[in-house]
Amino acid sequence: MNTWILEKEGFSPADAAADGNRFLCANGYLGLRGVPEEAGPALFPAVTLAGVYDQFEEKWREPVNAPHGLRLQLTMNGRALSLEETAPLRHKTMLDYRYGIYHRDTDFGPARILSSRFTSLADPHLMADQYRVEFQKSGLVSLRVGISTDIWDINGPHLFGFRHHAEEILLTEATTGQKGIRVAVAQGMEISPRVEESISVEPDGLYRTLVAEVFPGDIWTLSVYASVYTSLDHPSPAAQARASIQRAMRVGYLELLQAHQAAWDQVWQASEIQLEGDEAAAQALHASQYHLNCIAPRHAGNMSIPARGLSGQTYKGAIFWDSEMFFFPMFVYTQPEVAQSLLRYRIETLPGARKKAAEYGYRGAFYAWESQEGGEEGCTNFNVVDVFTHRPVRTYFRDKQIHISGDIAYALRSYYDITGDRSLLEEGGAEVILECARFYLSRASLHADREEADFADVIGPDEYHERVTNNAYTNQIILHCLQSALALADIFADRPAWFQGLLLQIKYEKDWPLLENICRRLPAPREREGVIEQFDGYFALEDCTLEEVRSRLRDPREYWGGDHGVAGVTQIIKQADVIAMMALFPGLYTDAQVAANWAYYEPRTEHGSSLSACMYALAACRVGRLEEAWQLFQKTAEIDVLGGGKQWAGEIYIGGTHPASNGGAWMIAALGFAGLRMRGGQLTLQPHLPSQVKRLSFPVTAAGRRYRVEVTQEGGTITEI
Ligand code: BGC
Repeated sequence: MNTWILEKEGFSPADAAADGNRFLCANGYLGLRGVPEEAGPALFPAVTLAGVYDQFEEKWREPVNAPHGLRLQLTMNGRALSLEETAPLRHKTMLDYRYGIYHRDTDFGPARILSSRFTSLADPHLMADQYRVEFQKSGLVSLRVGISTDIWDINGPHLFGFRHHAEEILLTEATTGQKGIRVAVAQGMEISPRVEESISVEPDGLYRTLVAEVFPGDIWTLSVYASVYTSLDHPSPAAQARASIQRAMRVGYLELLQAHQAAWDQVWQASEIQLEGDEAAAQALHASQYHLNCIAPRHAGNMSIPARGLSGQTYKGAIFWDSEMFFFPMFVYTQPEVAQSLLRYRIETLPGARKKAAEYGYRGAFYAWESQEGGEEGCTNFNVVDVFTHRPVRTYFRDKQIHISGDIAYALRSYYDITGDRSLLEEGGAEVILECARFYLSRASLHADREEADFADVIGPDEYHERVTNNAYTNQIILHCLQSALALADIFADRPAWFQGLLLQIKYEKDWPLLENICRRLPAPREREGVIEQFDGYFALEDCTLEEVRSRLRDPREYWGGDHGVAGVTQIIKQADVIAMMALFPGLYTDAQVAANWAYYEPRTEHGSSLSACMYALAACRVGRLEEAWQLFQKTAEIDVLGGGKQWAGEIYIGGTHPASNGGAWMIAALGFAGLRMRGGQLTLQPHLPSQVKRLSFPVTAAGRRYRVEVTQEGGTITEI
């Protein structure tokens, strides 16, 4: 088995949504869904742009899909040789994870189409497709190669005022409705042998049509290049896109491919985990690392990654806590510059977080639950649609999921602890931590009649229980945020002038005694027989099985949480909550505590989010439940190989790739199986290798040095390289 290749035989329109995700090509700037070149909107083709958002009328804001510059449609003797219209004799799709190359091989009978395409990692605006047609019958052929404006959107349309320029390089420009962002797509093409062509503007885009009589044995080879720029990248996106195609045509497909491959080689050199002992797991790990690496915003330095990556517009293309808790660990240990980018996004969106806090009547920084550009909150008050009434359901994710600010502070602190680099804190990270701490100060409930301070009316990671008090995870992440704010005084003990200024600005003298006071007064997690109560009153809820709760559903798409959800009145939880806390703060809990809580909560967890399994796996490694850890690892790592995961929340489509699971797979292998940890400036290992794994080997970067970690059943080593 080649663990770098994903292959699929056959074609079914019913699989198109999942395949578009599984065979995704992306480069951090854009994502090209893994559907064949001829695909029309019914097969969900899309070129999703990172960080470009738009709202159409009253629908949800979401990222913009650009016109599709690699659309090719073949017709022979009047018959469309398209998977949507003609059943092929044979069809195979492949994705090469090492280089992010999508291959298809389709035999329609009269002609066979073989193509290879990639979204360049060396030039993130560029996509290239080498498309070859082998004719097996004679006939009249017409091939449309162009820029399709027949765009599939979930909540669109987003682009208006299309302008087409039909020159040797095709160019289409359009403008987003809400903010007037200009999007330009240019396309160029080379074909051998030369074929007569005409260019025309058509209702669905700008096309070049190649027409010729062909005979058995004739072969057409096309290299097609498309480039996308927006006015967020450059004041003249059209000129840039055109120039990029001129350059691509000068150097040619092979040279572009080599540059792209060289860029991927570097990524793998920095991050590849090699797993020996189980080939399917090794493949799933490559898949996970590919899917996370291919959406890293390497081009930007100040962008983060949406919860469904660049696989489409699901989840509004928004940035969640997934970034800090699930994507960040792989990047900080392998490509710290990407980790910096994720955190810089938070630093730069601090004004948005301050605005949100002020709107709710708080001080400091309350980060958006679903953050879009500028830190704007994308989460609506009605974030789920009821399957029975088709009415929006009032949800409280945006109002009450206050752990997001602490999650960001946690990642900023980890960045410093792991890299030893203060620069990000200096750039604004310290201010973010202080502002998050100030938010919690103003959010705490202080009681005159008792010593303890509460955090009431919150939602923890388990979103099925809304508006609870003292969610253990939330309280712990808040405490850590407050402690990190206090620790800044030690980190900057040399008192640089900017730090002094910052303390003055936030009126440190006034707030700090309060902050210390709240740290002292936060209640210790409440326990029963060693099990931490997820929130006040959780143990009093109905204690029934997952199957029982599932049997109460009247529609498989029904939302389990909220006012009328089946889980809310029970102890069944959506995802790791207490266990997430234990996985993220391993030093705070004994093995016996982790074991008791794992045994209690795992059977009560639906794993209804792709963020759940990895946290349970990390804790399972710790307490020696290695068979379970292995199964949870497989579930996490295989999610995008199998095209699995939940597709619906109520009536809302939530399909796409699963970057949190992708990051989770790295976390389980490196932090769980190898037991990698940074303690007091030193990397340490505590291997918990399941019997299925013979050897794990991977590179790590910490404190500015590079290491190789090797783990076998006999033990582990860390060697500087
Ligand atoms: C989960 C959240 C997560 C979001 C995006 C939701 O289903 O409950 O924890 O941040 O998906 O992945």
